[in-house]
Amino acid sequence: MYTVRVSGVRGRRVIVVGATGRLGVAIAEALARRGDKLVLTARDPNKLAVMEEALRAAPLSADVATVCADLTRPSAIDEIVDGVRAKVGHVDDVVLACGPFPRTPFDDLVREDLERTLHVHAVAPLLLVHALKGDLAASHGAVVGLGDAGTTRPYTNHVAYLTAKGALRAGLLALSAELAPEVRVNMVDLGIVADPEADADPLRHHRLATRSRLGRFGTPDDVVHVVLALLDAAWATGEVWGVGG
Ligand SMILES: NC(=O)c1ccc[n+]([C@@H]2O[C@H](COP(=O)([O-])OP(=O)(O)OC[C@H]3O[C@@H](n4cnc5c(N)ncnc54)[C@H](OP(=O)(O)O)[C@@H]3O)[C@@H](O)[C@H]2O)c1
Repeated sequence: MYTVRVSGVRGRRVIVVGATGRLGVAIAEALARRGDKLVLTARDPNKLAVMEEALRAAPLSADVATVCADLTRPSAIDEIVDGVRAKVGHVDDVVLACGPFPRTPFDDLVREDLERTLHVHAVAPLLLVHALKGDLAASHGAVVGLGDAGTTRPYTNHVAYLTAKGALRAGLLALSAELAPEVRVNMVDLGIVADPEADADPLRHHRLATRSRLGRFGTPDDVVHVVLALLDAAWATGEVWGVGG
């Protein structure tokens, strides 16, 4: 397990956006395990409450706050920043792990698919970093965004999603220039992380896994390792670390 920061010594306050997702949960738990403090944000208040309770309980006994916000709404950025200010004051680092994975067959693609997906995956996360840039600069913070290997090796039926992830990638690279040298901004470009649905169909599983040179799906732990490494990588910005390709 990756643990460069010694538990309890640095205790940075990290906001995880999309904290209740498969990868968000794994990232939040890993941050808590090494003694970082958390702000968790997502859309569903019930999932957030369950997660907050689990992280606060022993053995992690984590310092956790939650802020519920729907990133499709224009008010979401203010809601998140107001929640941070009211509950914990500030954040040091940001992990962007949010958003849906909508199937949008090209023949049926409509403007709404593109606009909504672009908004949740790129517009809102970039505006959130913009709103928190003073916090991040003051603490020499880091932003790590989860991207998708499909933006450079596309697959079908996901034009809206891949367009949005491409915008996030370009936006974060631009921010790495805008926010340097105080704030580092990096990305992880993921292959496919195993999910129960894919695992249930051995043929589909095999077909998708063989797309990867490593011949397997990733696991949440594979992603956690890279996210924590980039949060800590004090001499890296504007990097896109591809994993599972
Ligand atoms: N899993 C993979 O194989 C894979 C591969 C490549 C890239 N990625 C990227 O990795 C990240 C995490 O993936 P994942 O598999 O953990 O996704 P996931 O399980 O679907 O979780 C998505 C998270 O985003 C939140 N979210 C969705 N729509 C939102 C909205 N409108 N406003 C606020 N929050 C919203 C969800 O919260 P609610 O439940 O409250 O809606 C949830 O916390 C995503 O950016 C994804 O594109 C994943």
